[in-house]
Amino acid sequence: MTGFYRQGSALVCDGVALDRIAAAEGTPLYVYSAATIAGRYRAIDEAFAGYPHAIHYALKANSTLAILRLLRGLGSSADANSGGEIDAALRAGFIPAQIVFTGVGKTVAELAQAIDLGVRTINVESAGEIERVDALSRERQTRTKIALRINPDVDAKTHPHISTGLKTNKFGIAAGDIKALCAHARGLSGVEVVGLHAHIGSQITDLDPLARAARALVGLSRELAGEGTRIEHLDLGGGLGVSYDGSRVPTAQEYADAVLPIVRESGLAIVLEPGRQIVAPAGALLTRVVDVKEAGPDKLFVIMDAGMTELIRPMLYNAFHRIEPVVQTDAPPTPCDVVGPLCESSDTLGKDRILPRPQAGELYAVLDTGAYGSVMASNYNRRLLPAEVMVEDGKARLIRRRQTLDDVLALEL
Ligand code: LLP
Repeated sequence: MTGFYRQGSALVCDGVALDRIAAAEGTPLYVYSAATIAGRYRAIDEAFAGYPHAIHYALKANSTLAILRLLRGLGSSADANSGGEIDAALRAGFIPAQIVFTGVGKTVAELAQAIDLGVRTINVESAGEIERVDALSRERQTRTKIALRINPDVDAKTHPHISTGLKTNKFGIAAGDIKALCAHARGLSGVEVVGLHAHIGSQITDLDPLARAARALVGLSRELAGEGTRIEHLDLGGGLGVSYDGSRVPTAQEYADAVLPIVRESGLAIVLEPGRQIVAPAGALLTRVVDVKEAGPDKLFVIMDAGMTELIRPMLYNAFHRIEPVVQTDAPPTPCDVVGPLCESSDTLGKDRILPRPQAGELYAVLDTGAYGSVMASNYNRRLLPAEVMVEDGKARLIRRRQTLDDVLALEL
C-alpha cells in the first residue's frame, strides 16, 4: 500500500507515522509520498504505452526540486510556465530539449532565455508572440520550434477560475485564426511550427471536453498538412482531475482510451502536460489545532496553525479537501468549521465538517494537497513558508527546510 492510509488508529505515509514526522519537523508541514508520485506517473505512461508520447510534468503543480528530480528519474520531461520554472527544471537536471515553455504572458526576457537554451518548443499564445519569437530568433540567427496554442472554445466544465478553453478566456489563439497564422509563420525565418497545443482547464472530471479538444487539434493538423505545414506533435495539455471527495473520476487509462483513438489516425506524437494528476494525492498538509471555540449553539471553530497562506485552494476555488485527525480518537462527532489563523474571514480549510471533537494541540492532515498547495503559499501576515518532507523507501527526508524570518527579510534594503 502506498500514500496516506491508516495503520490502526494512526495515519501514515508509505508506512511512516505522520505524528512522528510532525514531531520531528514541526507544523505546518507538507509531506509527500514518493511511491505515490512514481505510481501515478507510471500509470499515465503505461496508459499511453504503444503510442509515441512524452509526459511533460507541469511544474506549476509542485516544483520542489526533490519532486522534480524524482520525476526526471522516472523518465518525465517538463512543462515550464515561467523563466523561474525553466531554471528550476534545469537545476533538477532536465535538459532544454525536455522542456516545453508555456504561458499566456511570456516576457521578452523569458522568450530570449528559452530561445538561447533551445527548449523543445515554445507554446505560443498569440500572433504578437509569434512575431516576438521570430524577431528574437533572427537576431540570434536561429530558428525556434513553436507550437500554437489553440483556444478550441470547449467548456471544460470545471471551476471558472481554472477553465481556460473558452473563447472568453484569455488563453490561446482562436481555432479559426490558426490557418492564416500558420501561413504567415511559414514565411518567417525565425520560427518553425512543429506542434499544436490545447489546454482547456484543470480538475476536469468529464472526458468529453478533453476528447473534443483532441479532436479539434487533429482536425486542424489535417487542414494544415494540406497547406504545407507539417506538424510533428499534438500537445494535449494537462487538466485531468483527481477525486478529492472519494467520488469516482476517470483514470489515466480511461483518459488514454478516450483520446488515443482520436489521435491515432493522425500518427502524430503526443505531448501531455499533467500536473495535478501526478502529485495531488501524493501530498498532505499537516497542521495542529491552535484553539477551539464555539461557533454558535452546536458548532465549533477549529483554528489551525495552517490556513490560506499554506493552502489557498479552499478559499480561492471553494475547493474541498478531506481533513482528518492524524490519530483517531473516540471523542464525539462534532460539527466544525476548520479555519486558519489569518486575519480574513475567508481563511478557511474546510466548512461544515464532522470531526471527533478536536482539542488544542491535536495533529490533523489536510489530504490531496500535493498539487497547487505549497507552490501557492505566501508570506501574508509575515508567515513563513512551511517545510516539506518526502517519504521514500520507508524514510522521511526533509526536502525543503522551513523558511525563517531572516530568509524573508534578506530581500529588504
Ligand atoms: N498545461 C498548462 C498550459 C496549464 O496551464 C496547466 C495548469 C497545466 C498544463 C497543468 O494542469 P493540471 O494537469 O495540473 O490540471 N491553481 C489551480 C490550478 C491551476 C491550473 C493552471 N494550469 C488549482 O489549485 O486548482
